[in-house]
Amino acid sequence: MLGLVGCKTRVDARTAPIILNAAPATAPVLGELEAPTEIWAYNGQTPGPVLRVPRGGELAVRLENGLAQDTSIHWHGVRIDNAMDGVVGMTQDPVTPGTGFDYRFACPDAGTFWYHSHNRSWEQVARGLYGVLIVEEPEPPAVDREVTLVLDDWRLDEAGAIHEASFGALRDWAHAGRIGNWVTVNGKPPGDFPIRAGERIRLRVLNAATARIFAIAVEGHAAQVAALDGFAVAPYAPAESVLLGPGQRVDFVLDATGEPGGRYALLDDAYDDPRPIGFFAYSDEAPLRERFDAAPTLGETRKPAAPDLSDPLRSDMIVAGGAMGGLGQAMLDGEMKGMRELAQAGRVWAVNGVAGDLDKPLLSARLGRTVAVRMVNDTRWPHAMHLHGHHFTVLSVDGTPDPAAGSVWRDTHLMMPGEEAEIAFVADNPGKWFFHCHMLGHQAGGMRTWIEVG
Ligand code: C2O
Ligand code: CU
Repeated sequence: MLGLVGCKTRVDARTAPIILNAAPATAPVLGELEAPTEIWAYNGQTPGPVLRVPRGGELAVRLENGLAQDTSIHWHGVRIDNAMDGVVGMTQDPVTPGTGFDYRFACPDAGTFWYHSHNRSWEQVARGLYGVLIVEEPEPPAVDREVTLVLDDWRLDEAGAIHEASFGALRDWAHAGRIGNWVTVNGKPPGDFPIRAGERIRLRVLNAATARIFAIAVEGHAAQVAALDGFAVAPYAPAESVLLGPGQRVDFVLDATGEPGGRYALLDDAYDDPRPIGFFAYSDEAPLRERFDAAPTLGETRKPAAPDLSDPLRSDMIVAGGAMGGLGQAMLDGEMKGMRELAQAGRVWAVNGVAGDLDKPLLSARLGRTVAVRMVNDTRWPHAMHLHGHHFTVLSVDGTPDPAAGSVWRDTHLMMPGEEAEIAFVADNPGKWFFHCHMLGHQAGGMRTWIEVG
């Protein structure tokens, strides 16, 4: 366990920080038997080290920049102190090569979170700069074991190296993003996860890809969804595979109901027929147990404050642009520009007619105000809309009330082409909070805004 920082381990009131060194490294992206791939990594590994902290505990991390370009770290999903949010140009200055930055913040919510670069993230995350942050429940749920799966995809060239020439390609940015051609789980090609019959496993799954959507299910098992984006839900067995947009997490309670010696695929059917991205490989041992109790509810997660919907601060967030999107013009550097000029500046998307300018927030809310945002995806592409510093609940999708409103809390909502969704949250974390598409090329290409709280 790395860097457990809590009251018990407090030394002189301030704990020594965990060092995360961002630097070029090599990793077995192609598999242990192949030549390693040159990547960028935290402490030489991708995913970076798993950070664990007890709920309410403080995490102290010193980022050291061993890259040749500026960087920063964002703590995705944590209802964090704004100054620690890691957004270059909004909450902090860039961490220049050879320098460092000290992050120190409390983690108020238990759950599965993650950290990643937030500068040129379309390149830095795609090269491997991310890791999992686990905030532990004070009373961990009764499971035999935890397994964490970090899904990613890479765009590799014929030699197996990261395809560098296409970084920043507007063609990708204006379409689905930088979809890769090589899927990894925990930084390696799909392989076996050992399991014993009768085990109960908490399976934490993160989609760290910069564009690819996954839709996962475990063949032959009724894995129950127990948390979404870190926040506990009443456990349920989904009827279909679980969609996971970039940045999203799901925790499953997986009861090993398969046969000893059996092999069951972890399936992904986001884009086409189900294909395996790993296998649960059962040992020959006799089952650990024959019957399973009802799945435990995870965590005593602190629920976000219930929105007061009698008189919310309402706002529209209309995203437009991209290939086949018919975006004629949008604001760029405070002036209305046509598509050609926008493209020349690398902007191919707009939020409310603004192509990535950040001079004005989408909305300003006083502290404690309920905010309702109508998000309209007026494009031909799915988008994973991520709000920093808060969790929101989805009130409706395409006019149909969401039965999970008020009980499911997310930091990222995957919007389908043409979709209109209404979300609500209580703006109770003061600061400037980035709000953007987590298809990171879309973000760079203009699909971004921010909100101001307090
Ligand atoms: Cu996980 Cu602004 O990002
Ligand atoms: Cu997008």
